[in-house]
Amino acid sequence: MSHSPAAAPPALNPLAAQANAALAKDCPTAFEVLSQLGKRMYFPAKGILAQGAEARAKGKRYNATIGIATEASGPMHLACVHQSFAPGMDPKDLYVYAPSDGKPELRKAWAEKQRAQTPSLAGAPISHPVVTNALTHGLSLIGDLFLDPGDEVLVSDLMWENYPLCWETRIGARVVTFPLFDKRLSGFNQDGFMQALAARRGRKLVVVLNFPNNPSGYTVTKAEAGAIVNMLIAAAAAGTKLVVACDDAYYGMFFDPQCETESLFGRLAHAHENLLAIKVDGATKEEFVWGLRVGFLTYGVKGATPAAYAALEQKTSGLIRATISNVSHASQTVVLKALLHPEFKKQQAEKVEILRRRAAVTAVECRKAEYADCWDVYPFNSGYFMCVRLKGADADAVRLKLLDEHGLGTIALGATDLRVAFSCLLEEQIPDVFARLAQGVRSVRGR
Ligand SMILES: Cc1ncc(COP(=O)(O)O)c(C=O)c1O
Repeated sequence: MSHSPAAAPPALNPLAAQANAALAKDCPTAFEVLSQLGKRMYFPAKGILAQGAEARAKGKRYNATIGIATEASGPMHLACVHQSFAPGMDPKDLYVYAPSDGKPELRKAWAEKQRAQTPSLAGAPISHPVVTNALTHGLSLIGDLFLDPGDEVLVSDLMWENYPLCWETRIGARVVTFPLFDKRLSGFNQDGFMQALAARRGRKLVVVLNFPNNPSGYTVTKAEAGAIVNMLIAAAAAGTKLVVACDDAYYGMFFDPQCETESLFGRLAHAHENLLAIKVDGATKEEFVWGLRVGFLTYGVKGATPAAYAALEQKTSGLIRATISNVSHASQTVVLKALLHPEFKKQQAEKVEILRRRAAVTAVECRKAEYADCWDVYPFNSGYFMCVRLKGADADAVRLKLLDEHGLGTIALGATDLRVAFSCLLEEQIPDVFARLAQGVRSVRGR
């Protein structure tokens, strides 16, 4: 039986070659850290979308390019669909495709918000934010663009459970961990992080920093944030080619004056030529619109030129075009309108204040002396969650007991940790939750 020879890889599209050349010239580290797929990827600048954009600008008489249906008044639509939107919502801001890199007005408004909330960017050039189907998609795109099978992603041991699915299972990369907290559970484990970086000196490494952290609810202090930035700069200076993704999913939910309230992206985006910083953020939690699916990816590297940023944005948009084509225009419009609304900041602050009060009640209840035999509390000062480390009882057994005998749902993580989302508990419910948790632990433990 004859075997056909292995198929040759497809030739590099000239637009991919062009983007690669721009990166290799202006931002060599960003070129080097691209995955094989990342190197191949490009945005079809002469394709249907680009020709359509040209026609929108110049085809004033007739525009026969768009892959939608129109009537004299605008995009064709059904009254039974449109009745779901508030009066005044323009069909062209809902039903027409958004560009693959996102609705321009939304990208602009989000970029302004990022700058305003991140003074440590200090005027450093960064890319325009590219709109993603919320943060999960952004994290997934990072995997596609920067991870090949076998590459390592360094994350804290307390991590969002979707990371391994996203990068290990889907791509074949390896999620490796450093201990988030020191032994005494007093704060960020600087030694652990430094050792993890040192062990990979001189290699390519993707690092993910997630503060406020899921599941612990911890945000680093200003001093810890400074130390993290310095350790990453030292690793970059020692030759490690770093991609540092700041997963800012819970940005803004800070409940303690000690918290670093700026994204680490602000300093990392212009920290070192060997460090490509990526901000992964979005409206999901910040605007309390989990199901709308609007997020952003933004790049920053010291010394990168507009051409290099354009290349990174094009590769990202190309991948979006190749997978989901574009993100819901209706969702982008809703998020944009909220951002521009005069009441936005006030309304958002009111909700964060509700969460802050729940976190404060939780902090008192979970640390009551009468529960000292049941668990240690991981530090928390932000976000939606807190986590306890159970003493002498298996986390999943406790979880099941709480569910079956108390009707109380929690999340078991590994053998010892139980996550409690105080974000969805009323203040008055919190004391009872921890009382039941203790009963559950004692009952599983048999004393
Ligand atoms: C740390 C972290 N990152 C990302 C996400 C994903 O958010 P999104 O719903 O925007 O995809 C979550 C959601 O739970 C999260 O906890």
